[in-house]
Amino acid sequence: METANTEIKKIPYGRQSINDDDIAAVVEVLKSDWLTTGPAVNQFEESLCQLTGAKHAVAVTNGTAALHAGIAALELPPGSEIIVPAITFVASANAAVYNDCKPVFVDIEPDTLLLDAEKVEAAITDRTRAVVAVDYAGQPCDYDRLQEICRRHNLFLIADACHSIGATFGDKQVGQLADITTFSFHPVKHITTGEGGVVLTDSESLYTKARTFRNHGITADSRQREKANSHRYDMIGLGHNFRLSDINCALGVSQLRRLKDFVKRRREIARIYNQAFQGMPEIDFLSSREGRTNSYHLYPIMLKLESLKGTRDDIFNDLRTQGLGVNVHYLPVYEHSFYKNYLESRPHCPVADATYPRLLSLPMFSDMEDEDIDRVVSLVEKAVQQRRI
Ligand SMILES: Cc1ncc(COP(=O)(O)O)c(C=O)c1O
Repeated sequence: METANTEIKKIPYGRQSINDDDIAAVVEVLKSDWLTTGPAVNQFEESLCQLTGAKHAVAVTNGTAALHAGIAALELPPGSEIIVPAITFVASANAAVYNDCKPVFVDIEPDTLLLDAEKVEAAITDRTRAVVAVDYAGQPCDYDRLQEICRRHNLFLIADACHSIGATFGDKQVGQLADITTFSFHPVKHITTGEGGVVLTDSESLYTKARTFRNHGITADSRQREKANSHRYDMIGLGHNFRLSDINCALGVSQLRRLKDFVKRRREIARIYNQAFQGMPEIDFLSSREGRTNSYHLYPIMLKLESLKGTRDDIFNDLRTQGLGVNVHYLPVYEHSFYKNYLESRPHCPVADATYPRLLSLPMFSDMEDEDIDRVVSLVEKAVQQRRI
């Protein structure tokens, strides 16, 4: 292996790709009359609808706010239960808590790490009102099965698609598969607005509620008031300031034009990784289900620890020392201190418990050079070889 003293090129696990068009789009807004909630917001929302086929979009400050506003729009009674996968980013569960609802953690499939639809049904009680499906790493969940379960039990289906913009399920784009879909535009995601997120829905009523919630619970924004030549506004419920600015949205519009290329490159990187790791018995990678395309926000591997000396964290440290920005997505949500205090009992999620210690995310971003990919593969191979039992 390379020695720690030599200058090592660092490869992060994720990173944005910003070009001159992106910069020009932001500069143009800075020179214009509107910095916040102006024409670029509408343009970004329209572009997102065009991309996904969703009827309505509400751009918000981040993916967490999108989940918060999306669930608020459902107007669930306090104490409602919302099913959430055991392994996801904490925001998927926190959004339930913000809305005075209770997240109920359900186990994941062992080979895709997606919410296990078969286990969802067993977790439904007379207080369950919604299911949050998380398209972990970029692969859509089993929406046929989840839609059918939600229809039969009269539940809302929320797609936390913060990992899967640009992915498809059958002939449908992510964005058309649930009552509410949310994206995040954080810099490690496929496209970025700096910080940002969106709520997508086909329902006029959910759209109006999410839009109102984004602006303090006020029925008309300042541009609409200006158009109507009126100073009056009414706050009809308690909302937040979750408005995304024109500066962010102009960047989003420009980035969206490049999404196809970003996803194409991510899928190419995943194909090279899959091919390389197929030949390494100490490594499992995620299964792909037929009829779905994965847009690969992340590329997690699962180490076969029984064949290796040391732990995942030892290999994490080996690779970090070599300049690879490996990461772990995610600790089961119920293992965080907040949820240990919050939950009455520890959820029974044996697959999540067994998977977490084996998980390691490798670098995955569209600007990765071919030599970066080769370097990741060779460093992972060496790390595993050195620890082979
Ligand atoms: C699955 C999932 N949900 C929600 C979020 C929250 O998005 P944001 O960071 O934009 O608030 C993230 C972000 O990492 C995520 O990965």
